[in-house]
Amino acid sequence: MKIKEIKLEDLNVKKFIKDKSREIAVTVGDGCAVNALSGGVDSSTVTMLGHLALGRRLKTCFIENGIMREAEPRYIVGVFKKLGVKVEIIDAKKQFFAAFKGLSDPEEKREAVTQTFYKTVFGPLVKKSQARFLLQGTNYTDVEETVAGIKRQHNILAQLGIDTKKEFGYHVLEPIIELRKTGVRKVARALGLPKEIYERPPFPGPALAARVIGEVTPERVEVVRAATRIVEEELKNSGAFQYLAILHEDKVTGIRNNQREFGLQIEVRCWESTDAVVASPTPLSFKTLTQLADRITREVKGVVSVTYNIAHKPPSTIEAV
Ligand code: XMP
Repeated sequence: MKIKEIKLEDLNVKKFIKDKSREIAVTVGDGCAVNALSGGVDSSTVTMLGHLALGRRLKTCFIENGIMREAEPRYIVGVFKKLGVKVEIIDAKKQFFAAFKGLSDPEEKREAVTQTFYKTVFGPLVKKSQARFLLQGTNYTDVEETVAGIKRQHNILAQLGIDTKKEFGYHVLEPIIELRKTGVRKVARALGLPKEIYERPPFPGPALAARVIGEVTPERVEVVRAATRIVEEELKNSGAFQYLAILHEDKVTGIRNNQREFGLQIEVRCWESTDAVVASPTPLSFKTLTQLADRITREVKGVVSVTYNIAHKPPSTIEAV
C-alpha cells in the first residue's frame, strides 16, 4: 500500500491538526472546496479540519440519499450549527434509488453508491460551486480492506487507480487517510467535536444499503431503518464497537393474530472490536436478545423472525453487504 499508517503511539494530535489544516489550506489555495459530511466520526473530523483551514470557503454538504438513519440530516445540521459550521442538505433520494433499481449483487450495489455519490450528485455540485476539490473522510482501514479485495468501500478511488479529476471533474482530498478509527476519535475530540460524535459507533458510507440483502428499495430501507432505531436504542449502553440490523431477502412463515404471515427476517449484529479488522460477537444476555426480538417483531411491520449473528470476523464481516 502506498499510504503509510500513523500508528496510535506515533500520533501527535496537535501537530496532526496543524499539519493537516495547513496542507488543506496550501492545496486549495485561494479557491474553495466542497466537503462531504455524513455525520460519522471520520467525515465530521474532516469537516472541522477543512473549516479550520478554509473557513467560509468550505461548502459542507450532507447528502440525503434516502438510506440514512432516522432523523439523521436534521440531527447533524443541528450538531454542526452549534460549532459554527453551516451544512447544506442536498436531496438526492431519487438519484440513489434509481441507481439501486434491479441490483442485488453486493459489489454492484456498492459501485452504484460510488457512482451516484461522486458522479451524479457531487459532479454538478462541485462544478457549480467552482471548487476544484472535494474533502472526504477516508481512513486507513477503508483503504486496507478495499486494496485487499474484501469489500469495495464506497469512498476508495485513487487507490483503485481512479483519476477523480478525469472521472468526476475534481480532486479528492483525504486528510485522515493515515489514521485508523481510534486515532480519528482522538483528533475529533481535540477539534472540539462533541462526545456524541467522537464516540459515535462507525456507520458505513453505503449506509443502510449495506444492511439490506437483495434489492434496495425505499420500502425495504424503511424496514431496516425502523429495526436499526430499535437496535441502537436497546444497545447504546452495551459498550460494543458497533451494532446493527440487517434485512434478509428470504421470507419465512410466521403467525400473528392466529393468522399465517409469510414475513421478513431481521438479523441483529453486535460487535466487539478495536479497528473493525477483526471482530467478535458481543455476548449479549438472553434477556437483551429477547427484548430486541420482542420490540422488532412488534414495532417493525412485517417482521416475524429475529436472529443474532454469533460468527466472528473473519469469516463474517461487520456489515452484510
Ligand atoms: P466490514 O463490513 O467490511 O466493515 O467488516 C468494516 C468497517 O467499515 C465500515 N464500512 C464502511 N465504511 N465505507 C465506509 O466508510 C464503506 O463502504 C464501508 N463498508 C463498511 C463498517 O461499518 C465497519 O465499521
